[in-house]
Amino acid sequence: MNQATNTPKKRIFSGVQPTGNLTIGNYLGAIKNWTALQEDYDCLYCVVNQHAITVRQDPANLRKSTYETLALYLAAGLDPEKNTLFIQSHVSAHAELAWVLNCYTMFGELSRMTQFKDKSAKNADNINAGLFTYPVLMAADILLYQADLVPVGIDQKQHVELTRDIAVRFNSIYSDTFTIPEPYMPKTGTKIMSLQEPTKKMSKSDANENATVRILDDKDTIIRKFNLAFTDSDTVVRYGEDKPGVSNLMSIYSCFTGKSFEEITKDFEGKGYGDFKLAVGEACADALAPVQSRFKELMKDKAYLEAVAKNGAETASYLARKTLSKVYRKVGFVQF
Ligand code: TRP
Repeated sequence: MNQATNTPKKRIFSGVQPTGNLTIGNYLGAIKNWTALQEDYDCLYCVVNQHAITVRQDPANLRKSTYETLALYLAAGLDPEKNTLFIQSHVSAHAELAWVLNCYTMFGELSRMTQFKDKSAKNADNINAGLFTYPVLMAADILLYQADLVPVGIDQKQHVELTRDIAVRFNSIYSDTFTIPEPYMPKTGTKIMSLQEPTKKMSKSDANENATVRILDDKDTIIRKFNLAFTDSDTVVRYGEDKPGVSNLMSIYSCFTGKSFEEITKDFEGKGYGDFKLAVGEACADALAPVQSRFKELMKDKAYLEAVAKNGAETASYLARKTLSKVYRKVGFVQF
């Protein structure tokens, strides 16, 4: 049931970590797709700053990125009247439920998480307990709101599956408590790859600036980066596993223009990669221009961003408390 309208809309929860300079991977893989859902679903979108500190963050940067991520939600077109937009640390129920769920999650399950393995390899000097239990906090995020669907990129699917396992386990011990959520993945653009090494995900923290296109890059930079993008050896614009570079550019182009892979192949028949890369760069720059100008305006208006976050936190807290108090009752915590 949608709280605001009393209609039986399905509920959606998702989040982005406020770390670093967001890329078109974050935009196309996540935020842009969310705007299409706001009419038909009851959506909560969180800036997951508590997840961010599982790797060391500079406090000033974390604060700035938190505002930026929220501004980006808005700039991309998420309407704060239709969606609940909030900052994770403002709703203490996330940390509280995460503790309880920690006690219903197995060490072995967490050890199998591929993101934990990757991140601990990358941060060998800081393999902290939070990095290990991060998927439990994510499960708490989702289960607190009884979310039906969780839009995520393919790299987060394993975490949503773990969330389901935890929810099923809890429900079977204590009777129905949590909605069992499903991962929800858009058809294209789920995973935007590095422009330089197209078998790797485009990453905010890539040391090679030419590997990523930032949401705030100017037009010349965008066109230059696409021009330098790694492509495959033949010259045909065709989607295929044997052509990760061109396929990635096709996904990006398709996301920005709405064209299908067949149409794109047809449009660029007989033309070289040069023309294609320029077209991708232009489509990307043109599509980002309005998002960038709105983003810049919003970043000048902290009071507005704070008002949105405060409002969102109130709605979210109300919903979260209902689930948390149910959980506390079921596990036997005394409540007055
Ligand atoms: N772990 C996700 C990521 O790194 C972010 C995230 C945290 C999330 N909690 C979530 C995504 C809940 C979906 C639902 O991308």
